[in-house]
Amino acid sequence: MSVGGKNANMSCSLLCFLLSFSAMLAHAGAEVHFHEFIVQATPMKRLCRTHNIITVNGRYPGPTLAVRNGDTLVVNVVNRAKYNVTLHWHGVRQMRTAWADGPEFVTQCPIRPGGSYRYRFRIEEQEGTMWWHAHSSWLRATVHGALIVYPKRGSSYPFPHPNTEFPVILGEWWNEDPVQVIRRATRSGAAPNISDAFTINGQPGDLYKCSRK
Ligand SMILES: *[C@@H]1O[C@H](CO)[C@@H](O)[C@H](O)[C@H]1NC(C)=O
Ligand SMILES: *[C@@H]1O[C@H](CO)[C@@H](O)[C@H](O)[C@H]1NC(C)=O
Repeated sequence: MSVGGKNANMSCSLLCFLLSFSAMLAHAGAEVHFHEFIVQATPMKRLCRTHNIITVNGRYPGPTLAVRNGDTLVVNVVNRAKYNVTLHWHGVRQMRTAWADGPEFVTQCPIRPGGSYRYRFRIEEQEGTMWWHAHSSWLRATVHGALIVYPKRGSSYPFPHPNTEFPVILGEWWNEDPVQVIRRATRSGAAPNISDAFTINGQPGDLYKCSRK
């Protein structure tokens, strides 16, 4: 290799270092959050009956994701369920990461049973409480959770700082597989059957049979 070539290589590595260093400064304080989401059938008892529902990591509602404005989320989704699945990050503006948005057959092919897909996106200039949910058939009935974007470190809420915070997720429970409910409706052309209960954080209230706090 000639001396000139060596110099060229050296100045490139210096330039590359300076470029990545300034990128680091621009995102100073921002974190990258890694999560593994296993989509799987899970036995769940509600309204006195146990049946298998599709969950993330065995939880209903699914895990709460908490990040700060400017952070990056990396969610590795492993599909161990019998249905195709995709996940949508509801309310997140996907800046230059449209393929991470999630609607099946719109921005991606569904993740097949046995397959996996890694969503990676950065939260840019937004704050608030949003949610993530499946975007494939009616899996969203049980495959969902909160997505909380806190202000950047050192900046405050646009309202007085709350004493306590906890997510409240309102949902609906069917005594059967929600995917079958929508499939039957599509086949017959009639409206889908209404749910058997409303839920708060996954629990039907006191007015339903076999309720729990
Ligand atoms: C499941 O997803 C694959 C592509 O990922 C697609 O070819 C297939 O049609 C999907 N099946 C259903 C029932 O949507
Ligand atoms: C769906 O709703 C119809 C009409 O109310 C009812 O006759 C039927 O039993 C329901 N099916 C299931 C599986 O709950």
